[in-house]
Amino acid sequence: MYSQSNGKANGNYEFGVVGSPPKLKTGGSYIIESHSQGDAGKTSIIFSPFNTNQAGTLAKFLKVFHDYEVDLSHIESRSSTRGPGYEFMVECDAKANQRLHDAIEELKHKCGYMKVISRAYHDEDHLADDVNDVVPWFPRRIRELDRFANQILSYGSELNADHPGFTDPIYRQRRKYFADIAYNYKHGQPLPHVEYTEEEIKTWGIIFRNLTKLYPTHACREHNHVFPLLIENCGYREDNIPQLEDVSNFLKDCTGFQLRPVAGLLSSRDFLAGLAFRVFHSTQYIRHPSKPLYTPEPDVVHELLGHAPLFADPAFAQFSQEIGLASLGAPDDYIEKLATCFWFTVEYGMCRQKGELKAYGAGLLSSFGELEYCLTDKPQIKEFDPEVTGLQKYPITEYQPIYFVSESFESAIEKMIKFADTIPRPFGVRYNAYTQSIDVLDSKPQLDDLMETINLELHILRNALKKL
Ligand SMILES: [Fe+2]
Repeated sequence: MYSQSNGKANGNYEFGVVGSPPKLKTGGSYIIESHSQGDAGKTSIIFSPFNTNQAGTLAKFLKVFHDYEVDLSHIESRSSTRGPGYEFMVECDAKANQRLHDAIEELKHKCGYMKVISRAYHDEDHLADDVNDVVPWFPRRIRELDRFANQILSYGSELNADHPGFTDPIYRQRRKYFADIAYNYKHGQPLPHVEYTEEEIKTWGIIFRNLTKLYPTHACREHNHVFPLLIENCGYREDNIPQLEDVSNFLKDCTGFQLRPVAGLLSSRDFLAGLAFRVFHSTQYIRHPSKPLYTPEPDVVHELLGHAPLFADPAFAQFSQEIGLASLGAPDDYIEKLATCFWFTVEYGMCRQKGELKAYGAGLLSSFGELEYCLTDKPQIKEFDPEVTGLQKYPITEYQPIYFVSESFESAIEKMIKFADTIPRPFGVRYNAYTQSIDVLDSKPQLDDLMETINLELHILRNALKKL
C-alpha cells in the first residue's frame, strides 16, 4: 500500500491540506499520508577509524557516545569494503540533539570515513556541521524493512467518515483483524493465510468477472501472458481470493519480487525503499461489499489483479526496482518526482504494443471503469519522460486526464536510470541479491570489486556466446 503525502516534512508530495483525511479515489489507488514522522527517530552512524587494527578500538569509540550520554540501540562491526581494517555501525534512538551532534563532531576527527544516515535528516544542523554529512535514512538490509513497516498514518480499522464501511462494525472489526496481521508481521515469516468470508469472496468474484472480460483487449501483453499462470498456480478464480503467500512465492520464482503485508499507509520514501529490495507492501483486506466496483484505498483486489501480474515480468520488475533504488537517500524533492513517476507508470502507466495503446498500471487494471476510459479518446496521452512526468500534477479523486505512454519497459528502465543519475547523492547504490542488501558505493575499492564482478559476468556471457 502506497500513500501520498500532504506535507514536505518527510519528503513526499505536497498534496491536499495538511492534516486532511485520506482522499477517495474510484478504482482504488493512493491515499494521503500525514506529515508525521511517527517515532522513527533512528540515526545510524557508519564510521571507519584511521587505525582499526589496534586492540580495543571499538570500545574507545563507544566511550565517546557514553561520554555524551548517547544511548546506542545497535552496534555492529564488519570488514570495511572501503579499505583495509574494519568499519563500525552504531545506531541510536535519539532524535537529532546537541549531544549526538557533539559526539559525531568528536568522532569525525578520528575517522577516515563517516556517514550519518538519519530519519531526522531535516534537522541536520543538529546532527553535523556539514549538512552533506547527513543522508536521509534508508534500509540497507531487507530485514530493516521491519523498521518502517509500521510507520503508518492510520491503523487499518480506522476508516474515514465517508468510507463505505464506516458505519459497519463487522467490516471494521474485519479491517482490524487484517491490520493486526500486518502489524505483527516480520520479514522472513510466512505470510499469514486468511480465510475469506463468503461475502468477501462474492465481492472479489464480481470484480474478477468484470475485469477479466476487459483484459484481453485492454491489458498489456505482459499482463495477459502472466494471468493464466496465476490462475494455474495461485488460485486466481472468480470463487477464490488468492492468498498473498501463494502469489508472493510465485513472484519470487519469476523475478524475486515478494509481497509483504502492510497495516496502513506508508510514506512515499518508505514505500519506494521497499521496491529497491523487490518488496511490495500489499494490503490483504477487501473493499466493503456495498460498493464492489469502488474502493477509496488499495485493497487485495487492487494488489492482486492490478500489481501482482506485472511484478512477474522481469523487465517490469527491474523498472520498479530502479525507481526504488533511485529513492534511497534521495532529497525530498526527488522523492516527490520519483513517486510521481511511480504514479504515472506502475499505477497508471500505458504502453504502445503493435501500434495500439494498452494499460499496464495497477490503478487501471483493477478499475473496470477507468480501464475502459483510458482507451477512449478522452484522456490526453504523453510520452513517458521522468524529467517531465515527475513534475506532472494529477487528481486522485477522479479518472486521470493524462496518461504517460512507454514504448517498452526496457526503454522506461533506461530513462529511469538516466534520471536517477541526476539525483544529488554522494554515493552510488547497488542491490546485492546474495545478501539482500544495498551496497552503498562511495570508495574506489568498492568500485574495483564491482568491476571484478562485472568482468566475471562478461566472462559468462563470452563463454555462452561461443557455444551458441
Ligand atoms: Fe497501487
